[in-house]
Amino acid sequence: RNHQASNSLLTGRKVLISAGPTREKIDPVRFFTNHSSGKMGFALAEAAADFGAEVTLVAGPVKLELSNKQIHRIDVVTAAEMYDVMHKHFPNNDIVIKAAAVADYRPKLVHDEKMKKGQGNWQIEMERTQDILQSLGEKKTLQFLVGFAAETTNPLEYGIGKLAKKNLDAVVINNVSAEGAGFDGDTNIVTYVNKSLHPEEIELASKRVVAERLLKFIERDIKDEAK
Ligand code: CTP
Ligand code: CA
Repeated sequence: RNHQASNSLLTGRKVLISAGPTREKIDPVRFFTNHSSGKMGFALAEAAADFGAEVTLVAGPVKLELSNKQIHRIDVVTAAEMYDVMHKHFPNNDIVIKAAAVADYRPKLVHDEKMKKGQGNWQIEMERTQDILQSLGEKKTLQFLVGFAAETTNPLEYGIGKLAKKNLDAVVINNVSAEGAGFDGDTNIVTYVNKSLHPEEIELASKRVVAERLLKFIERDIKDEAK
């Protein structure tokens, strides 16, 4: 692959990306997670690095490898670990993209020993995790902060709600129930919305191509903000 023509797009930018699911333990053999494959976040990391950015990728448990060896990869498991790593690196980055599908809840009690089955039902009490993206939005100084929104209904309305609530500069809305979009495939269909609230659609394409288009929108919006 030849990136010569476009590899200056993000030169000198420091980009922090989170990808994949998180995993929340119940006991030594069981956990809660979700269907995120990490492919969208990894595609963003590869594309940003190929565009000349200095990339840090914070990855939940995924079965993916990076081909660009310049990317600094940090593996995490839980939402709490992802929170710590993202906050540690946040002040030092220019563009922050939260593509990860972070668990909203974790078991309140983690058992040290394997739970044995009984006769009746098993109720697990869940507690909220911290919203990493929202906490970054509260701390934001000069960073361009991008969130994802995974929606099955009213994607635009809910996605734009997250843009405002989390103090984002842009939101990437992912209608996860559309054909060709969502968690595990190699393609995606997304809508990018910045603070102008004017939705920009990226039609069905490989996650790599979607990543490149998103990075071009982000770079354009950073330039516009600087004017
Ligand atoms: N997010 C996060 N920390 C969490 C939950 C979500 O940083 N504990 C981030 C995700 O990485 C994503 C964005 O928030 O960039 C939106 O995630 P999403 O699950 O779509 O929205 P939520 O705000 O969690 O709301 P809900 O799941 O109820 O729709
Ligand atoms: Ca959520």
